[in-house]
Amino acid sequence: MGREVASAVSRWCALEDMEVGCEITAVCDLELSAREWFRKIPTVRLLTADSSELLKRDDVDAVYVAVPHYLHEKLYSEVLKSGKDLLAEKPFGIDLAAARSIARQAEELKRFVRCSSEFPFLPGAQRVFALAQDGRFGRPIEVRSAFLHSSDLDPAKPINWKRQNVTCGDLGVMGDLGMHVLHLPLRLGWKPKRVYAQLQKIYHERPDGKGGMAPADTWDNATLHTDVVVKGDEIPMRLEMKRLAPGETNSWSFEVLGTDGGARFSTKDAKALWLFERGKEQSWRRIDLGFSTPFRTVTGGIFEPGFPDILQQMLGAFVLERSGLLGNRFGCVTPREAIQSHEVFAAALVSQKMHGSVLI
Ligand SMILES: NC(=O)c1ccc[n+]([C@@H]2O[C@H](COP(=O)([O-])OP(=O)(O)OC[C@H]3O[C@@H](n4cnc5c(N)ncnc54)[C@H](O)[C@@H]3O)[C@@H](O)[C@H]2O)c1
Repeated sequence: MGREVASAVSRWCALEDMEVGCEITAVCDLELSAREWFRKIPTVRLLTADSSELLKRDDVDAVYVAVPHYLHEKLYSEVLKSGKDLLAEKPFGIDLAAARSIARQAEELKRFVRCSSEFPFLPGAQRVFALAQDGRFGRPIEVRSAFLHSSDLDPAKPINWKRQNVTCGDLGVMGDLGMHVLHLPLRLGWKPKRVYAQLQKIYHERPDGKGGMAPADTWDNATLHTDVVVKGDEIPMRLEMKRLAPGETNSWSFEVLGTDGGARFSTKDAKALWLFERGKEQSWRRIDLGFSTPFRTVTGGIFEPGFPDILQQMLGAFVLERSGLLGNRFGCVTPREAIQSHEVFAAALVSQKMHGSVLI
């Protein structure tokens, strides 16, 4: 993810009307091979394996930290104590206690902190969000938010830190994909009140890369059936986070349905915004979207945005909000929202254990 961010920042010139500049000046990674890649970035003045060296630099204002989840709290805390601002990676700490501790430190030290979640910056996601905010769907019926992967279907895929509780956290796939699924609902004020969780461990071990097998003890798939209050009505909201979803490469989707209208967007068909209309006849209308990202770029309006583009949009939102210039435009996940997502996941773990629904 460090390389993705550095590459998005390297073409900052693509952003039009961007009042704030951004460049990568220093990079830290324990691995020499990972650090060496950053020699391609001409603005980088420091490559180090020691994060304290990076945090002493005057030419570093804010730090993006993308490390395994068990290191979040320690490294985020070091960034904040050094007086730098922080763009944290999800899940913003390995568990709820860590998330609360990071947020508390940010507040005490008065640092600007946001958390990464880029898919809501896609034009289709923005359109569904705006329609949901307007609330012109009649009486709300239900909400679905999902993020589905499938590369773990291959049992020969070797173990890594994301497949073990000790490094990924007991949340498993919820820690990995959950923030992406909850960013829009939480921004709309739709925090689940109750959850019934179905968590699955499908493969229990994976090749260890040394000829043997290693335990894979994280939750692979999570389906959370929740209740949310939308326009005064309590309705179901289904949250799906899956590493073993047959055929789904990286499918993020968000759907809101009401009695008079509805909207649906999925990265599986990334140009399409689907709008439901109830007239004399009922219809789903498909609109072909172009490059209508929240922050204008040099790219022509007819083209299709992709992952690198929305990562750059998210970074644009971060630097603008940090400078007090975001206005009413869409911003990154706040520490409060990150804590709220952890409250949902913590309740989901309890729900799974007791096979019942849990109030949040
Ligand atoms: N926003 C997204 O779309 C997205 C996508 C993938 C991963 N992530 C998140 O990014 C974070 C990292 O995931 P990844 O897939 O990039 O992991 P990764 O394993 O590919 O990379 C982590 C890097 O951290 C380095 N590292 C470990 N300990 C360190 C330390 N103490 N100091 C300096 N460097 C250290 C490792 O050497 C490695 O290069 C996680 O929180 C993950 O959930 C976010």
